[in-house]
Amino acid sequence: MVTVVGSFNMDLFIETERFAAPGEAVHGRNFRRAPGGKGANQACALARLGTPAAIIGAVGQDAFGDEMLANLKAAGVSVRGVVRRSDTPSGTAMIVLDAAGQNQIVVANGANDTLTAADIEQHRDLFMQSRAVVAQLETPIPSVEAALRLAREARLLTILNPAPFRPVSDALLHLCDWIIPNENEATKLSGVEVRDIPTAARAAVVIKLRSACPRVLVTLGANGVWLDTPEFTGHLPGFKVEAVDTVGAGDTFIGAFVTQLVDGVEPRRAARFGCAAAAIAVTRRGAQASIPTRHEVEAWLKQPGPTV
Ligand code: RIB
Repeated sequence: MVTVVGSFNMDLFIETERFAAPGEAVHGRNFRRAPGGKGANQACALARLGTPAAIIGAVGQDAFGDEMLANLKAAGVSVRGVVRRSDTPSGTAMIVLDAAGQNQIVVANGANDTLTAADIEQHRDLFMQSRAVVAQLETPIPSVEAALRLAREARLLTILNPAPFRPVSDALLHLCDWIIPNENEATKLSGVEVRDIPTAARAAVVIKLRSACPRVLVTLGANGVWLDTPEFTGHLPGFKVEAVDTVGAGDTFIGAFVTQLVDGVEPRRAARFGCAAAAIAVTRRGAQASIPTRHEVEAWLKQPGPTV
């Protein structure tokens, strides 16, 4: 099993031709809502891709909270580590998608912000049954640190997706076996502006030096990933697809990549599987709704497909 410590958000989508400039109103269409949140998306991806998963997080005692928990349960994720707050609404994300499939997201963290180190401690038993723990930065830093510490004590694989970026201590990064930022997060963690493969490589080296973490993977969107590990260091290209919605693609990558790691697959192959899962996800709408099954990814990888 893999335990995810992370967020739940109800994603509220509007599509538009182009994003509004500050102070401008533009026409939108196709309003819809769907369960999201980086933690919940990653837990959903793990389960859909065949790895038993549990999540520790917080939602409100409200209709969005009910719907998000029911959705994750239906995907096969254990939600007994989720606390309900009666005084704080569930997290909500306003997501605007433009005609090119790009997105702008504003998140009201709500109950996610109430997750404490004590909540993590209370679900210590989940860690004892797990092989890995995955955390992001959409819940408070003390909850992330508690999760990584407990996982270290239990000798589990620790994976940090530092998203969305917040300043974190070197001591917290030191608790990670894997750090998996996107270009933007890698830029902020390293101080090296990531614009291409050479700068991603430089940023990964700086992140490794500051964290003493042995394995860094920088996701590069459609351009694949940069891996810096003792097993393999280099670029792995992404797959060329027609993107309609990139929301949750990074979370799909993380879930897919971790399912492979806990199965003992070497990082390069695991990353290829992750890139394929994310490529399928961007051709569909929604965060959790777009995540493929393991069978779909395996079948897709057998087809000759162009890499970027
Ligand atoms: O990573 C995508 C997620 O980020 C969305 O589902 C949204 O909830 C935001 O947290």
